[in-house]
Amino acid sequence: MRSLSSAKVFAPATVANVGSAFDVLGFALDSPGDTVEAVRSASPGVRIVDVRGDHGVLSHDPARNTAGVSVQALLAHLSATQPQLSTPGIDLVIEKGLPIGSGLGSSSASTVAAVVAANELLGSPLSRADLLPFAMEGERVACGSAHADNVAPSLLGGFVLIRSYTPLDVVSLPAPRSVWVSVVTPHLELRTQDARKVLKRTVSLESAISQWGNVAALVAGIYRNDVALMGRALEDRIIEPERAQLIPGFAEVKAAALEAGANGCSISGSGPSLFALSASRDAAKAIGAAMQAAFSGLSLVSTVHTSQVNPEGAKVIGRA
Ligand code: HSE
Repeated sequence: MRSLSSAKVFAPATVANVGSAFDVLGFALDSPGDTVEAVRSASPGVRIVDVRGDHGVLSHDPARNTAGVSVQALLAHLSATQPQLSTPGIDLVIEKGLPIGSGLGSSSASTVAAVVAANELLGSPLSRADLLPFAMEGERVACGSAHADNVAPSLLGGFVLIRSYTPLDVVSLPAPRSVWVSVVTPHLELRTQDARKVLKRTVSLESAISQWGNVAALVAGIYRNDVALMGRALEDRIIEPERAQLIPGFAEVKAAALEAGANGCSISGSGPSLFALSASRDAAKAIGAAMQAAFSGLSLVSTVHTSQVNPEGAKVIGRA
């Protein structure tokens, strides 16, 4: 088979945590997302040759860029474990479709698109699931914590549950087709690193009981395609109350979503985006508009996306 000279991959935005399931659950959206092209190069190593759509914010140093770090880790692993591959140099062109620090898994989407593109370029020596630890390395660079609840759904699609981090044990769940999502992103940046610093290190037994009941119900709702149960199960007594204070208008926007008929509403990832669940496209659009109006009422400009749960995750969109 002829070797590829380039591969281009789209990786979707994700909603991590999904209310009650902090750090252990996430799902992929259809759009927006980031695109990365990996191009074979005669010079060894990884280079970030271009980053578009980031307003000049992201580093072009591969050791400080989430996509660069992940592809470097992937190449080092392949050189050590599959020396017959004779890994080439790789140039990366990153096209940001996601705002940075938005709660939509922006760094994860670039990282996932980059590792999937590099793997495709090399003839797919690793499976999708095997790419996860390399994508998680990018997350460590982005915010100091190698959580997988954004990278795993962006990579694999659907809902993904992280049962354990050590050892890594990731469970793919279905993408319930009756669920629609409204995601509203105020034009503010909230760094995940900062949104993690506000969290208390201990929880009460009472809160823990409520939380594991809700996480279990959320998973049951996913399997039953039951948006009402999923909506109830977003209830988060541990993380949301701490982070709500970092998001201007949180209470008003959540109230607007519920008033407009949402089955549930919470923070997307570490915020400042909020997401709401409902049972139809029309409902999702009306709920998104109500949430946006609530932000506007507080003089905050925002962007709305409506989507179903994306069942396939990152997608190869070009090969040459
Ligand atoms: N689980 C992570 C958090 C997702 O909430 O901090 C953000 O990337």
